[in-house]
Amino acid sequence: MSKKTFKIAVMGGDGTGPEVVNEGVKVLKAVGKSLNLSFDWIPYDLGGERYKRTGEILPDSVLAELRKVDAIYLGAIGHPEVKPGILEKGLLLQLRFQLDQYINLRPVKLYPNVETPLKDKGPKDIDFVVVRENTEGLYAGAGGVLKKGTPDEIAVQESINTRKGVERCLRYAFNYTRRRNKNKKLTLVGKTNVLTYAFDLWERAFHEIGQKDFADIQRDYAHVDATCMWMVKNPDWFDVLVTDNMFGDIITDLGAMVQGGMGIAAGGNINPEGVSMFEPIGGSAPKYTGKNVINPLAAICAGGMMLDVLGETDAANRVEAAVVKLLSSGKMKSQAAGKMGMSTTEIGDWLAANV
Ligand code: IPM
Ligand code: MN
Repeated sequence: MSKKTFKIAVMGGDGTGPEVVNEGVKVLKAVGKSLNLSFDWIPYDLGGERYKRTGEILPDSVLAELRKVDAIYLGAIGHPEVKPGILEKGLLLQLRFQLDQYINLRPVKLYPNVETPLKDKGPKDIDFVVVRENTEGLYAGAGGVLKKGTPDEIAVQESINTRKGVERCLRYAFNYTRRRNKNKKLTLVGKTNVLTYAFDLWERAFHEIGQKDFADIQRDYAHVDATCMWMVKNPDWFDVLVTDNMFGDIITDLGAMVQGGMGIAAGGNINPEGVSMFEPIGGSAPKYTGKNVINPLAAICAGGMMLDVLGETDAANRVEAAVVKLLSSGKMKSQAAGKMGMSTTEIGDWLAANV
């Protein structure tokens, strides 16, 4: 078999981002070695430091280069000295939009020995996946402000839902549910009782597409507020959930807590026909920066997702199996930064040796 090479843009970003991504690269290199895959890692220094130094957030020339890679591996965006919103909107959201990464895939899986705040729930109860629409909704930036700073100020922020955008997201979710082959159940999460324009579109498209092309997938619906309740009370009810950008943002933070915290929650910004970007869901954790105490598992799991989306299922499974093995061994004492009983680099080394 000839050697396959993937061109990966590595964007460590801010705070602890570079540290966790380094460990991911280490583990992917190791798995690549045993499976005859190689990687061409291309570093990019986008993030808060570059912005402070040069004022650049996402130069056009960089974006043009990123369009040509096989995938992007991102650490974290967010700098304590940069006003909130600048980097998030200018970099993270720009990349999602410009590269048309219309799916944000966020698995919520409790691994062995990982503590969940949910009483009496274990790995068999907590194993579902959220498919979040990633380019529309309230994130599209539609709206505006009038009379700013006066008592008559008007702020309008509209949710954009296009049939095309909703349909491609739903189709991805149905296909994903089929491939995952767990309970073959897809739950649409919405608010059809109040947001009667947007979620009417989602609901009609959901049933039309499901009936016509995915008769093998059971269709379910839950309001977003009730979903928060069930995610805590009966997480085992869920297999795959699909929802809009804003609701997906909110319920996946809840999901991350349920699966043991930001240290372990991974996500993928996916354009199934283009360039996808993989990242730990957590932020840049400035106070832990440079201390070798941050949990790299979320970034490493995001690296595993990247392999899966690149079509390297075997490699992806090995990454996950190594993570499960490490957690099952009890060597890691906690998922929280500074309390893990292992350093950031020790975790990467252990996984690289066991992948
Ligand atoms: C996420 C983050 C981002 C979002 C922020 C940083 C813009 O919270 O990836 O969930 O809201 O999508
Ligand atoms: Mn979020």
